[in-house]
Amino acid sequence: MRNSSPTVGRGRRLSLAELRDVVEHYADDVRAGRYVAEFETDQRWHVRIHQDDDVDVWLISWTTEQGTELHDHGDSSGAFAVVEGVLNEYVWSDAADGAGLLVNNVREEGDVVAFGPAYVHDVRNHREAPAVSVHAYSPPIRLMRYYDAVASTIRHTGSSWTDDPEAPAPRSAAS
Ligand SMILES: [Fe+2]
Repeated sequence: MRNSSPTVGRGRRLSLAELRDVVEHYADDVRAGRYVAEFETDQRWHVRIHQDDDVDVWLISWTTEQGTELHDHGDSSGAFAVVEGVLNEYVWSDAADGAGLLVNNVREEGDVVAFGPAYVHDVRNHREAPAVSVHAYSPPIRLMRYYDAVASTIRHTGSSWTDDPEAPAPRSAAS
């Protein structure tokens, strides 16, 4: 049966509820030992564990103070589930007056977060214990955009056309 959800690129954009189901399904697989995370201290370890036309799914590990830059996911919606450990997620929140701020959210084992394309966040592990999380993007990642938070605004610092949500952020000419 034809699904009525809008199509983007090759596949269908999953709803946020579907994305939550996807990451919970693969988080259960990780807990069952079907996928095993590795840990690297020099760079964030990550591996794609599923991809089809509609969604890609990544298993990511975070050692102490490993984190992303402030970024969005291009046109993709997404979700992530914390399988092990604790992550701090700094989410950019626009205020009505045009100013904004980074809101610090503590995401613990079992937490699931789903978001649409306009979502800008920075995820990191401040704890001694490593963390493991499962991330899904729909449609599959094609573009990552990076930002700096300056006072009450965010400044776009660069973009990468990539299918890898963990690709290194391009550095702006100013940095
Ligand atoms: Fe992200």
